[in-house]
Amino acid sequence: MRWLCTCAFLIYIFHLATIAATTAVAPLPLKGAASPKAKAPLIPASAFLSTTHYMNSCPNLEAIIHRKVNAWVTRDPTLAASIIRLHFHDCAVRGCDASVLLNHLGSERRAEVSSTLRGFSLIDDIKAEVEKQCPKTVSCADILTAAARDATILVGGPFWEVPFGRKDGRISISKETDTVPHGRENITSLINFFEKLGLTFVDLVVLSGSHTIGRTSCYAIRDRIFNFNGTGKPDPSMNVFYVNSLKKQCKLSRNFVNLDVMTPRTFDVAYYRNLAKKLGILATDQLLYSDLRTGPLVNILAAQPEFFTSQFAVSMVKVGNANVLVGRNQGEIRLNCNYVNPLKI
Ligand code: HEM
Ligand SMILES: *[C@@H]1O[C@H](CO)[C@@H](O)[C@H](O)[C@H]1NC(C)=O
Ligand SMILES: *[C@@H]1O[C@H](CO)[C@@H](O)[C@H](O)[C@H]1NC(C)=O
Repeated sequence: MRWLCTCAFLIYIFHLATIAATTAVAPLPLKGAASPKAKAPLIPASAFLSTTHYMNSCPNLEAIIHRKVNAWVTRDPTLAASIIRLHFHDCAVRGCDASVLLNHLGSERRAEVSSTLRGFSLIDDIKAEVEKQCPKTVSCADILTAAARDATILVGGPFWEVPFGRKDGRISISKETDTVPHGRENITSLINFFEKLGLTFVDLVVLSGSHTIGRTSCYAIRDRIFNFNGTGKPDPSMNVFYVNSLKKQCKLSRNFVNLDVMTPRTFDVAYYRNLAKKLGILATDQLLYSDLRTGPLVNILAAQPEFFTSQFAVSMVKVGNANVLVGRNQGEIRLNCNYVNPLKI
């Protein structure tokens, strides 16, 4: 029996690996690198990132980021989750180019979905220190990516090496955040969305595991607990006691509730185990369990904490590589993460 289980597990993993191998390395066309008619180059933009990028130009970079994240998260532990989410929202629109940090009229940051994003002041604080020690050298996109890694460690998640060398974008458009997942999508559209970031359904399931920490506004789940699909009743795929408890905590849309009802501040597989008990808080979380494409992986992750931890590191590197700006003519090193650099005339 044990042998049978292990064997089935291995076959499933092999299946995943095959899919990953065939879909993960789709090369991203390098902007301006070739004429529009030419075939996409075989080298993905993320291949130009490197863990040693700032080794000579800013040797203290990771120490500065680590120290700042540590200090801020010690003061406010809820910030750890917020920084991880901020990084995802950056990468989700125009790639990891710090476009989410730009603070001007009509920018991503001013959009409705961004209203619950937090952690901007922490990034500003890191950037100020980095500019002192290594002026005009380190991009805001790189700072945000490394801060998300350090935040993960602080909540008990894995370490991974962060490849550096992203440039900051000069464009940020509020409307483009419409495509960022908000919790009411179906799995097909989530898989399609992740695909555009160079991510597979494995990354979707693994990265959704971030919801093992952090909170959601009641606004994001109000339909689900009060009026699912216009029925005037809660979502039937949700545990009844859980619904009642959430109704009490969600008197106001601007209240917050934990994403992981069991261990809200620990990086663990409780998030996946909750789904089998109808304790997923977002409709999309619960759907990962019931969908035939993602359900088996949810069960594996629920049973294998080490697999979750190691795969999370892999998937976080992948999301951090999404549609990055690299090379001389792309983007810039922003001086202040909130604004694009003034144009030189
Ligand atoms: C797969 C699709 C995803 C959906 C539908 C989704 C949806 C959401 C929603 C609705 C919230 C609560 C927002 C609010 O306060 O109203 C949230 C929070 C959060 N999400 Fe996701 N998310 C997804 C993927 C991800 C990914 C890929 C990551 C990280 C790599 C992530 C990390 C987080 C974290 C850490 C929080 C808590 C933020 C905090 O406490 O401030 N999510 N997500
Ligand atoms: C999933 O959502 C998309 C976008 O809302 C929609 O076009 C599509 O028909 C939906 N697919 C299924 C299987 O419900
Ligand atoms: C939601 O409502 C639509 C249209 O009323 C219906 O087709 C669909 O099956 C419902 N979905 C669920 C999960 O109840």
